[in-house]
Amino acid sequence: MRICMVGTGYVGLVTASCFAEQGNEVWCVDVDSEKVQQLQNGQIPIFEPGLQDIVKRNAAEGNLHFTTDLAEGVRNSLFIFIAVGTPTLADGSSDLQYVFEVARGIGECMDAYKLVVVKSTVPVGTTLAVGETVRRELAARQQTDLDFDVAFCPEFLKEGSAVEDFMKPDRIIIGAENSRVAELLKELYSPFNMREPRILTMRVASAELSKYAANSMLATRISFMNELAGYCDLVGADIEEIRRGIGADSRIGSAFLYAGLGYGGSCFPKDLKALIGTAATRDYDFSILRAVEEVNQRQRQRLLDKIRQHFAGDLAGRRFALWGLSFKPHTDDIREAPALDLIRALLDAGASVTAFDPVAAANVRKVLGDNPAIQYVQERYEALRDADALVLVTEWPAFRKPDFDRMKTLLKQPVIFDGRNQYDPTQLRRQGFTLYTMGRGRHGQD
Ligand SMILES: NC(=O)c1ccc[n+]([C@@H]2O[C@H](COP(=O)([O-])OP(=O)(O)OC[C@H]3O[C@@H](n4cnc5c(N)ncnc54)[C@H](O)[C@@H]3O)[C@@H](O)[C@H]2O)c1
Repeated sequence: MRICMVGTGYVGLVTASCFAEQGNEVWCVDVDSEKVQQLQNGQIPIFEPGLQDIVKRNAAEGNLHFTTDLAEGVRNSLFIFIAVGTPTLADGSSDLQYVFEVARGIGECMDAYKLVVVKSTVPVGTTLAVGETVRRELAARQQTDLDFDVAFCPEFLKEGSAVEDFMKPDRIIIGAENSRVAELLKELYSPFNMREPRILTMRVASAELSKYAANSMLATRISFMNELAGYCDLVGADIEEIRRGIGADSRIGSAFLYAGLGYGGSCFPKDLKALIGTAATRDYDFSILRAVEEVNQRQRQRLLDKIRQHFAGDLAGRRFALWGLSFKPHTDDIREAPALDLIRALLDAGASVTAFDPVAAANVRKVLGDNPAIQYVQERYEALRDADALVLVTEWPAFRKPDFDRMKTLLKQPVIFDGRNQYDPTQLRRQGFTLYTMGRGRHGQD
């Protein structure tokens, strides 16, 4: 089948290359000409395990094309996927300008039947409004006899395991208003549905809301555990023991129950804000989600409070080693990453930072600029040399079982602020460390 993928970010590039891998021919369109040129030269602009191989192989085989020309992609394809960004506006709502810009572009250049599939995360009603926009452009060209359909297929891939998630999805949601559309998309997605039926078809509005509902539910679990973790710190309970205790309950399950510095990234914060904001336009108050956001923001402050308390409020002139900068492991994405807030707060307090991340340092440097108070190092132990303490921010596997004896010789004082509950408090105490955790009770702070 012939597919046009508009937007070649995390979602667009992964989706396009996974479709190409199934033998489809895919045109990837992006307005960012530098990105398109990089892709044409075989360079992948993002870090995503497994992606590079698939992109290179399919580009070489002629299944993947990269262009800035929307008309080329649209005219060559039956399916037009819209996978552009939907960032947050100042009032919390979604900025849909890129989605509608693409919709207008499609209407301006389509020349035969097309199925326009929105893949960007969008508020209820957007997909049908995309259809209206295409229709208006066709009317302006006096081409109202050109037929098209719209559909919504939310994307549930996770950065860091995006290729695997796309190839083996838990479910594929198709939001369609008629059976012709549903059948076309079922056919396209059939290679991912072979081992067991995973396709769910539903009305467009339900599909649009399903995406927000999934992210909101997961964020709620995280904030619930974080709120509980704060209480654990007060009463001497251990949130890790509680996690195991409740995760073993089949009604609850074990995923997304980790207390820590809270969620970040390009999706959870944005999608919660968008759902709260769009509901508010109907005078509907998502009070649960407002609390989820508040708890999430507070977690970063909690860790900072522990740092301030340990150093009796005086951070000026101190240096902190930071392990991990990306918002989660296995990605270079730093959007809404807790590390950014922590670095800014430490610098504001007069401290300096030496940071190590396996892949995300360059992106942080782009956001925070060249600043003598922030040093980026190439190796995890190098960050520790003469630092007053280590702050573990992102739980990359390389940080899980470090050489603690070596760490003790490098740090000025053996103090660790474990923002992700990676270390065993009993073991670290035995090795002479002062360990601060996120809710592992008083024994974490002895
Ligand atoms: N990143 C994720 O993990 C994830 C997961 C599920 C859903 N989503 C949703 O998917 C959408 C895309 O997210 P992303 O992380 O891939 O975004 P991104 O910012 O990484 O990529 C968006 C791309 O769209 C391009 N673009 C913008 N306007 C364009 C236009 N008019 N024509 C062509 N290209 C254009 C940009 O240049 C950019 O390359 C968002 O709505 C997001 O919420 C993201």
